[in-house]
Amino acid sequence: MIFLAIETSCDETSLALFDDRRIVFHSTYSQIKHHKIYKGVVPEIASRLHSEKISVLIKKAELNNIRNIDIVGFTRGPGLKGSLLVGKIAAMTIGEFFGAKVIGINHLEGHLLACDIVGDKIEDVLEFPLICLIVSGGHTELWYCSSYGKYKVIGKTRDDACGESFDKVARMLGFNYPGGPYIEKASLKVKKTDINFTVPDVVDSLDYSFSGIKTQVMYFLRNIKRIDNKLRNEVSFAFQKAVCESLVKKLDIAREKFNVKNIAICGGVSANNYLRNLIVNKFRDCKIFFPQLKYTSDNAAMIGVCIFRRFQKGVFKNSLEISDRLPIRNWV
Ligand SMILES: Nc1ncnc2c1ncn2[C@@H]1O[C@H](COP(=O)(O)OP(=O)(O)OP(=O)(O)O)[C@@H](O)[C@H]1O
Ligand SMILES: [Mg+2]
Repeated sequence: MIFLAIETSCDETSLALFDDRRIVFHSTYSQIKHHKIYKGVVPEIASRLHSEKISVLIKKAELNNIRNIDIVGFTRGPGLKGSLLVGKIAAMTIGEFFGAKVIGINHLEGHLLACDIVGDKIEDVLEFPLICLIVSGGHTELWYCSSYGKYKVIGKTRDDACGESFDKVARMLGFNYPGGPYIEKASLKVKKTDINFTVPDVVDSLDYSFSGIKTQVMYFLRNIKRIDNKLRNEVSFAFQKAVCESLVKKLDIAREKFNVKNIAICGGVSANNYLRNLIVNKFRDCKIFFPQLKYTSDNAAMIGVCIFRRFQKGVFKNSLEISDRLPIRNWV
């Protein structure tokens, strides 16, 4: 079975071609350098770049040399509408050309199923039931997953996404966009600090909140005349520590409440090593699943895994409508 996956939800244009479980082509064009000067993604620029780069990737994949494609899958949400639309149009056009089935995929399911990519192959890595923590630039959600295609949201952020809070605090500290990797790198230079931010908490709930800690950092920095590198590193460290502790706290409650021994952490922030170590050390009696680092941020290979799992179960009923706030739904 040959299938093509297309990802254009935000600021990465990505294409992946699979021959059954094997990735035979995967290429991602990152738009970061175009958005960096604005310290965030500009939707209009994003969709324009997707429409330029998607054809470059199609050419690079040499689809004209392929005799058959059985399924074309694309991210239909959540994401930026104009960006999603480019992926959908490409998928419909290629699908029509090859007489392939076209299916719409939820981007966040892609982040989770990225854990199943080992080397350049889809393997049966994830074990169910599991609790999944999605920590990305636009989302922070806890899911209870009973199998592929059966997902229940059990907690989510009430305001900012976790990655968004990393990006905003990084901006306050004068770091570039996206800020997460800069904060992690700066934190590595700190052994100990007196700076202490309150761990964000939404009491009696599995929900998260990250806008408060952002304000804490803002107030802390307001009275400081000159932010030097030492301070920048220490604030990064204290912020990262508080945010990661908050992530782990709810994860722990969820794991206990649902009596689950499998945990998956995915999305851009799951690249953070401090968070990875915290989780591995805290949940020694659990199996922990992370995507390979290169599959933590947006990519089409993770969308390919979603296509593959649907193919395995023979489930292709799926809306092709794009939706910027697409909720996760069961598909089995
Ligand atoms: N090492 C890191 N530590 C902390 N945060 C990180 C790290 N690496 C990346 N991030 C953060 O991950 C986010 C990007 O993740 P991702 O690409 O999954 O998000 P997105 O696709 O924009 O949003 P979504 O998936 O919710 O639609 C950014 O906010 C970035 O700062
Ligand atoms: Mg993403």
